[in-house]
Amino acid sequence: MCGIVGYVGNDEKAVEIILDGLSKLEYRGYDSAGIAVVENGEIFLEKKSGKLENLVNSLKEKDVFSNVGIGHTRWATHGNPTDRNAHPHCSNDGKVAVVHNGIIENYSVLKDELIKKGYIFNSDTDTEVVSQLFSELYTGDLIETMFKVKERIRGSYALGIIHKDYPNKIICARKESPLIIGIGENKKFIASDVPAILKYTRDVIFLDNGEVALIEEDKVTVLDKNKNIVNKEITKIEWDMDQATKNGYPHFMLKEIEEQPQMIEKTLSAYIDVEGHINFGKAFDNIDFNKFNEIHIIACGTAYHAGLQGEFFFKKINGLRTNVDIASEFRYNDPFLDEKSLVIFLSQSGETLDTLMALKLAKSKGATTIAITNVLGSTISREADVVIYTLAGVEISVASTKAYTTQVVTMYLISLYLAYRNKKITEEELQKYLDDVYKLPENVGNILLQKEKISNIAKNIYKKDRGFYLGRGIDDKTAKEGSLKMKEISYIHTEAFPAGELKHGPIALIEEGTMVVVVSTQDSMVEKVASNIKEVRARGAYVISVTKETHKEVIDVSDEVIIVNNNGMLLTPVLSVVPLQLLAYYTAVHKGLDVDKPRNLAKSVTVE
Ligand code: G6P
Repeated sequence: MCGIVGYVGNDEKAVEIILDGLSKLEYRGYDSAGIAVVENGEIFLEKKSGKLENLVNSLKEKDVFSNVGIGHTRWATHGNPTDRNAHPHCSNDGKVAVVHNGIIENYSVLKDELIKKGYIFNSDTDTEVVSQLFSELYTGDLIETMFKVKERIRGSYALGIIHKDYPNKIICARKESPLIIGIGENKKFIASDVPAILKYTRDVIFLDNGEVALIEEDKVTVLDKNKNIVNKEITKIEWDMDQATKNGYPHFMLKEIEEQPQMIEKTLSAYIDVEGHINFGKAFDNIDFNKFNEIHIIACGTAYHAGLQGEFFFKKINGLRTNVDIASEFRYNDPFLDEKSLVIFLSQSGETLDTLMALKLAKSKGATTIAITNVLGSTISREADVVIYTLAGVEISVASTKAYTTQVVTMYLISLYLAYRNKKITEEELQKYLDDVYKLPENVGNILLQKEKISNIAKNIYKKDRGFYLGRGIDDKTAKEGSLKMKEISYIHTEAFPAGELKHGPIALIEEGTMVVVVSTQDSMVEKVASNIKEVRARGAYVISVTKETHKEVIDVSDEVIIVNNNGMLLTPVLSVVPLQLLAYYTAVHKGLDVDKPRNLAKSVTVE
């Protein structure tokens, strides 16, 4: 949510490098983009509402060369997505420019105070108080001033600040919102995320909460919250840039859907050893699994839906009471947590603030916390007691796909690991469960072969304005994810309901031509699902079913059928979500929408 890039180097390439970096961070927000550099001893500022291309176009005519600057791509919170609210924000004296990701919670108090002192505000944002305050508290020393500012501001922030008197430095600070520093030879970078700087360096420092860093072309000075210099570890980023490019695909989303067999395979080979045992290295060495009497799974959005799948694993395989909660609700639901609770946090980005806050709460109650995230060094991965990475590779498209399936697979493996270690399942049972997971990559691949058919089905629905997704049991959870995908990228209002619940209200909305997508993979429920389909068809619904070829009762009463292979009761849902991803994708494509950057959304949500 909001992307920050900064550059200081021994060349005059700040504008070019910052714009390039921003282009890799647009998934964090695309309401506006802006840049500030120091040029000939003055701050040059350019900012435009809308996508980054608007800023790029407006800079085309202007030859701006500088060795230091900051840039920002915005997901609006305070103030409309207009030019004036776009970052960077400058102080009244024009000496300071600020980019910010997060929310300054006490901004209105600070704003009033600064207005009384004669400061004039030029935007409706919370961020502008930081630029004015920096100028107000400026001592001539960037580090000292940053600490003074930090004493006054509350909330979450990743800040990048330049001052015209220091045309070779960036001062930055972090609390909750992510910020990394890239180390190159005679060039240094700051960014919200690795893809922004990977073209230039693989050596990265992850700033921790409360830290302040002064960035110079040949040096980085990091101070902790007590103003002591800290020696930060440099992490080498191992993944490649082509993971962050479309590689010939029209959209990241399609590329990421098609990568699923490969990423599931990668996850399996990382966590299952040659002897066929689940191996998470030393991750769980210090955890006494016998002590847990309940599991909580906490997440937001698509990751929450993955959690709903996980619930079935932990209940069935581990026989443990399992509760799945939306992170933003969990904290306020007075959860019963103690040292016997195991809490699993799912987050693709590892930065979602709601999830992070829930994690902090769980830790404060003495629970053991496991983070399942996709981003190395992310805040959630560093706060949890144990981190297990999903090996989905970089996910760029705002609508999450391969992160979801790898989260589900990772939870399945954790569930089996725990059950085997606690002797709840035998070696033979373990191998039987693993036989199912080994089949997934090929079976997902088979679904991808049906993409043309799914695209044709999408042609029948892309003009609809609403619809329903139905399923029973674990299929209901898959239906929820399918419905979210459709809403997110095609803007068709869909809702998912347990198939048996429809008759208790929502069926009132079914009329001639209403789209109903049904998921049916559970043999024990096929007849009941078929009855539910008949109920909606009798009222004119157009039914698209995702089912197995053995579910004849469902096939016979559906208008369109997409077949998935049988992959066992617990894992067939990993297959059935894939046609739903493709259906949402092609529907959005046929509508001519910007699939990878759906309106109002951001991939990494670092506000509560
Ligand atoms: C945002 C994204 C969703 C994502 C959710 C949770 O809302 O648009 O696609 O599922 O955040 O993100 P996380 O990174 O925690 O999985």
